[in-house]
Amino acid sequence: MTDQNFTTDDAGIPVSSDEHSLTIGTDGPILLQDHYLIEKMAQFNRERVAERQPHAKGGGAFGRFEVTEDVSAYTKADLFQPGKKTDLLIRFSSVAGERGSPDTWRDPRGFAVKFYTDEGNYDMVGNNTPVFFMRDPMKFQDFIRSQKRRADNNLRDHDMQWDFWTLSPESAHQVTWLMGDRGIPRTWRHMNGYSSHTYMWVNAAGDKFWVKYHFKTDQGIEFFTQHEGDQMASMDTDYHTRDLWEHIEGGEYPSWTLNMQIMPFADADDYRFNPFDLTKVWPHSDYPLIPVGRMTLDRNPTDYHCEIEQAAFEPSNLVPGIGPSPDKMLIGRLFSYPDAHRYRIGANYKELPVNRPHVPVRSYSKDGNMRHHNPGDPVYVPNSKGGPHADPSQLGETATWYSAGDMVRTPYALHREDDDWGQAGTMVREVLDDAARDRLVDNIVGHLLNGVSEPVLAKAFEYWRNVDKTLGDRIADGVGKKQSETDPKAGEQANAARSSAQAKA
Ligand code: NDP
Ligand code: HEM
Repeated sequence: MTDQNFTTDDAGIPVSSDEHSLTIGTDGPILLQDHYLIEKMAQFNRERVAERQPHAKGGGAFGRFEVTEDVSAYTKADLFQPGKKTDLLIRFSSVAGERGSPDTWRDPRGFAVKFYTDEGNYDMVGNNTPVFFMRDPMKFQDFIRSQKRRADNNLRDHDMQWDFWTLSPESAHQVTWLMGDRGIPRTWRHMNGYSSHTYMWVNAAGDKFWVKYHFKTDQGIEFFTQHEGDQMASMDTDYHTRDLWEHIEGGEYPSWTLNMQIMPFADADDYRFNPFDLTKVWPHSDYPLIPVGRMTLDRNPTDYHCEIEQAAFEPSNLVPGIGPSPDKMLIGRLFSYPDAHRYRIGANYKELPVNRPHVPVRSYSKDGNMRHHNPGDPVYVPNSKGGPHADPSQLGETATWYSAGDMVRTPYALHREDDDWGQAGTMVREVLDDAARDRLVDNIVGHLLNGVSEPVLAKAFEYWRNVDKTLGDRIADGVGKKQSETDPKAGEQANAARSSAQAKA
């Protein structure tokens, strides 16, 4: 047996040098039979899997969820039964930047949790925002492209971001959120996580509820101002990744309290807002937060590539007692994520330890690239050979709703108080204080001054006046003033745009 400390190649064969290629004579050409050198070069060329299309930059940790309250009246999901503890993985991320991009750019943050439950994996793939930029999955790809890079010069471009937003007024609530203080969380530990979507919970008696998840940080909300975020981006690109890692290494385990908003099934039809519209929240006064339990992170990954980069979260991983809702974005996502994983990681991504459920898998999936374990015979169902059979009683447990109608391509039916601007305006007027409103104005003005030109600029002023007239006026004034300082001609243009927006209003 060879000494354990000797290097081997990937076939386990001892190698004679870590430093010198096999050559003819000291200065001679390298020989093709140096298979170890070739293996090193070839393996290196294949080290990267494709980065995630959105949410490429991120970090994560392991921990557990402990149920502290009794919500069994609302769901029979095993992981939410009183006293239950469930292991989990979380990955935090930013959306638009690439794998090496700074953690402190202004952006929503991903908040993806994989619960390894006794009924299979349950993935809650949320963000740090309770709403999103659009309500139909048809627009998601265009939105992400507008946030990423131009085709010609490969630069990010605020003009295209605002062009998309101002032509998509349903984005106003989320853009208000993004441009506010919480658009740059101080750390991942200091932000909340939301399902954003409405899901369904079903209890043991079969009663159905519409629900929204709110993971409230126990560390308190903290944020960076734009200036602080910019400073940090130049000093430490990986500030959030480092912060999470160091706190867990140091035994300071971050935690979040899970609260639910729970709407009785029958309320959905005539609730004042369409409860499935992802651009809307349910005001707390309508559906107060109901506490469920605590999520604590206490273990860092030991292998970033295997445990975080190849982690595959998918909103379609739903366990009995939890189901989707008619939210069109959510339904779109049920398809999109497993498709992304098959492309990014490979058909058998669920065999990787980080993605593998902690319960036995008895599916009939077999073979394919990198498969290392097949279920064996019989390879078909139905069979009379003792293979697994579906459990018909599960049918009654599936979260379902009644739906009928002609096939159409239309927006959602409007509920009484549905519009694109109202809830954003409520946030500006009733949630933010004066100082937060001032920072909101400064952040938007700074963003617009960074390459946004006509006709998009005029549309942006109009957009903000629709959210809140005073806010819109302040933004237009701010942009006009700054432009006059640096370029009097552009300042005049902005003033003209502001006047025309005011006249329209
Ligand atoms: P509430 O006063 O009950 O809730 C206001 C919410 O706003 C709280 O959840 C608070 O979070 C959050 N908040 C405070 N400051 C900011 C900020 N700078 N950026 C983003 N969120 C912030 O009012 P309503 O439930 O009636 O909602 C009013 C408006 O508040 C909504 O239109 C929406 O824009 C916003 N909001 C509502 C949420 C909801 O689920 N109802 C969730 C988040 C925002 P915290 O308690 O953690 O400080
Ligand atoms: C990542 C698609 C909306 C949260 C991704 C990825 C895709 C995607 C393809 C990359 C997955 C991977 O390669 O691993 C979509 C589509 C959407 C949508 C098609 C709308 C139709 C949303 C919304 C949220 C969200 C509304 C939050 C509520 C996330 C998170 C990640 C992610 C957190 C990163 C997951 C991780 O850490 O691996 N999305 N997304 N997405 N998305 Fe979405």
